Amino acid sequence: MKKYNVCIVGGGSTYTLGFLKSFARMQEEFPLNKLVLFDIDGERQKPIGQYGEIMFKERYPELDFSYTTDPAEAYKDMDFIFMQMRAGGLHMRQKDEHIPLSFGKIGQETCGAGGMSYGLRSCVDMVEAIHQIREYSPEAWILNYSNPAAIVAECLRREFPDDKKILNICDQPENVVRSTSRLLGCDWNDLDPVYFGLNHYGWFTHMYDRKTGEDLLPKIRQIVKEKGFLPQDAEQRDKSWLETYGFVQTMLEDFPDYLPNTYDGYYLYPEYKASHLNPNYTRADEVIDGREKRVFKECEEVIKAGKLGDKFHAISDAHAEMMIKVAEAIAFNTLGRFILIVENNGAIANMQDDAMVEVVCELGINGPRPLRVGNIPQFYLGLLVQQVSSEKLLVDAYYEHSYQKALEAFTLNRLINDAKEARKILDALIEANGDQWPELK
Ligand code: G6P
Ligand code: MN
Repeated sequence: MKKYNVCIVGGGSTYTLGFLKSFARMQEEFPLNKLVLFDIDGERQKPIGQYGEIMFKERYPELDFSYTTDPAEAYKDMDFIFMQMRAGGLHMRQKDEHIPLSFGKIGQETCGAGGMSYGLRSCVDMVEAIHQIREYSPEAWILNYSNPAAIVAECLRREFPDDKKILNICDQPENVVRSTSRLLGCDWNDLDPVYFGLNHYGWFTHMYDRKTGEDLLPKIRQIVKEKGFLPQDAEQRDKSWLETYGFVQTMLEDFPDYLPNTYDGYYLYPEYKASHLNPNYTRADEVIDGREKRVFKECEEVIKAGKLGDKFHAISDAHAEMMIKVAEAIAFNTLGRFILIVENNGAIANMQDDAMVEVVCELGINGPRPLRVGNIPQFYLGLLVQQVSSEKLLVDAYYEHSYQKALEAFTLNRLINDAKEARKILDALIEANGDQWPELK
């Protein structure tokens, strides 16, 4: 059986430990020859790398594991690159969320002004990183889940139009499926979803029982009405996530046709959401005080003890598991189904071909094959066309260094929706991002 060479870009991420454990746990399904962590921040990555050395010695001794800040060492001879960069780090995520809220508009990691702020930084860093990767590993599959995935996917589509081995993925649709299965009391793998949208902005039109073919959506609607909606993933049980999931109940009451992605709440109730978020303490702060502390404390403990102890199951990793399953599907041509971000080309029939949309795909060695959803109703089309226009204009702004295009992107975004406010927030974000943004003239 072939064994694969994998690099994780963003080795210092709070998600990396979950990946390291999942690679060890899934060594039969997706066997590794070599695993390299790469980060531009060597200090942050170091404890995670040391943790990995200790864990793999115990659990995966034949694995060639290392960590580095040298791109040549990281990218050479790779089969798969897992991209989980956070351009600007959690410190800039804080600014992305706080600044728009100080203007009374939603500050969120990937939606609205916060997402666009992060988006321009990610365009800069992702384009640079992927050009570098291609120098060393022209044939490697690049599995990108760096955010904001919608904007990043649009930028990579333009920058690398002929590169068929860049795949953009988000775990949230699967998180919603997993959470739904918990409500239904079934295994999430028994659910066969039909889904359409943009990244972090989509809906499930059907949720079939894989065995019987029954559409469980009416049942789901009823259960959510009675019991609300809760996350399956332990990582998404912090206060702000519980609120985000809870909103699915409201959305299903107001728009009962389809089961929404949790992120839709920001777009459907922007004023309510903005007025209920705390401008001085957002999800970024929660992550800094929560997951980030937990992860680095776990590293410290394991490094001090020199052994893993009982830590193997201490972190939930549905996210890592999904990404490794994606790699497995490509490596072994399983043609399993995943919800992926792909160029539309008719998958959503009444949307423009060059939109990057999120739909169910079959995935194998030749890449994703999207399943068509046909025409979507006018309401959803209207929402999505507005958003895809905002995203495309932002990527125009990146390429053309255009303040005007950025202003248009901000104005058109449903979470801002006002030109004067858009200009104020944009100006504040230009200042906050400094040279991490392209210069906008
Ligand atoms: C989900 C989304 C990701 C997002 C993450 C944020 O996994 O799919 O795109 O980055 O949530 O989670 P956090 O716990 O950092 O707020
Ligand atoms: Mn996502």
